[in-house]
Amino acid sequence: MRPAPQLDLPLALDRAAATPLHAQLAGALRRAVLDGHLPAGARLPSTRRAATEVGLASATVLAAYEQLTGEGYLESRHGAGTFVSHHLGADSTAPAPPRRAPQDDGAAATGSGTRAVDLRPGRPDTRRLVDPAWRAAWRSASSQVPSWEPPPLGLPALREQVAAHLRVARGVPARAEDVVITAGADEGLALVAHALELRDVVVEDPGYPSARRALRRLGVALHPVPVDEHGLVVDALPEPRAGGAGAGAVLVTPSHQYPLGGVLPLARRLELLAWARARGAVVVEDDYDSEFRYGAAPLPALAGLDGDSVVHLGTLSKVLTPWLRTGYLLVPPRLREAFAAVRHDLGTPVSGVQQQALATYLAGGSLRRHVARARRDCAHRRAHLLASLASQPHLRAAETSAGLHSVVVLPEGTDAADVVRRVAERGYLLAALADYAVERRDLPPAVVLGYADASLADLSGAVTAVGAACADQRLPVTPATTPTAAASSTVPRAVQPRSRSRPGG
Ligand SMILES: Cc1ncc(COP(=O)(O)O)c(C=O)c1O
Repeated sequence: MRPAPQLDLPLALDRAAATPLHAQLAGALRRAVLDGHLPAGARLPSTRRAATEVGLASATVLAAYEQLTGEGYLESRHGAGTFVSHHLGADSTAPAPPRRAPQDDGAAATGSGTRAVDLRPGRPDTRRLVDPAWRAAWRSASSQVPSWEPPPLGLPALREQVAAHLRVARGVPARAEDVVITAGADEGLALVAHALELRDVVVEDPGYPSARRALRRLGVALHPVPVDEHGLVVDALPEPRAGGAGAGAVLVTPSHQYPLGGVLPLARRLELLAWARARGAVVVEDDYDSEFRYGAAPLPALAGLDGDSVVHLGTLSKVLTPWLRTGYLLVPPRLREAFAAVRHDLGTPVSGVQQQALATYLAGGSLRRHVARARRDCAHRRAHLLASLASQPHLRAAETSAGLHSVVVLPEGTDAADVVRRVAERGYLLAALADYAVERRDLPPAVVLGYADASLADLSGAVTAVGAACADQRLPVTPATTPTAAASSTVPRAVQPRSRSRPGG
């Protein structure tokens, strides 16, 4: 008989920490896999046995095992037990040393016409945002009026709050000194391009048009790489070349590919990081809406896997509102000076009053509470949207377990741009999936619909309008249904101007 496996890990679980015990155990096991201490194929003890060994409840161990199984580190085989995944090859389990927080593992710290309803993606739900905590934070911030400029990299209090948020919510052992406060993701991306003097960037196809525009304006050459239902096709990345010519960075949305919704599997994450290291390139991780998941917890951010190659690009546009124009970067320590030099020369674009108000708001735990409320509301709207779609047999929602928008796939052969025009005539603005493409011509006909800021009635109305527009398209075209130049001009294409018509996520 085979000897029963033991965990045999140096575990420093902190029962007083804010991080739950199952998350601490998952973190320790994840690190053991990445360090090679638990090799691919190794069998783990049963939850009961592990629980006895480490002095935890079986349910706690089970929750940790389930989390890591969902993340792809472990696999459970019926009747045989739980094993370290086989597909984690030797290369991929040896990334650069992860970023370290001072405390440790992240465990300690804390249409047209006048009445069109705009359902293009990018708008979060702000209905419940203004509460007593929000008002108090702004009141207090506006009563302090220093006679100096805010520090170039951001207010220390806000940088500390952002670092704490990244440690708790995203599994990244972030330090305040590596955080830079930005005026949103696009401004953050422009700062990355300036600081690293980027000339070439790999972008996802389809991907976020606004980021592409920002990069192009800075003279950066874009190299589109296709995505599939799991996210970036890492195998399609250009071959690493010696001498540094080619892509200096990869811009990727691993938590929730924008706009298709895939979650980049662990094996691809590790391959992507290996690709970047081999090339001396930087991975820019756009983590725009990972807080909104309606099932499994999000995978920890890439920045927690490799503290040396990843610049983490965060925004408050989805968790609070794009009206703030505030975001942040988490920068590898070796690159910090380059970012500081740009901010020193150009100054910070983010007002001190705003940074102070946000620091106070985050310190009181209000962001966490607001996100929990917004997530519940969005889950309700998403369920309603899915039910409405189910009543239209020809429409199908693509992956929707996360985020604030859904990709609705139309019957084969449908002209999606024409559907968008027809739906706008019925009073709802949507985006066509093709508008997010760079080179791809093989995408299915689909529309992208943001549900976070929509009423249930509007969601039902928009779905009915999409169904009717698809049906209309099959009828012989009459002058009345032909989209006129006037109709098209009143429907701003979602990927064009930066005003409200910029597609968000
Ligand atoms: C993919 C993606 N990244 C980032 C953002 C946030 O951008 P910003 O912070 O500039 O509002 C969005 C907003 O819609 C988005 O869709």
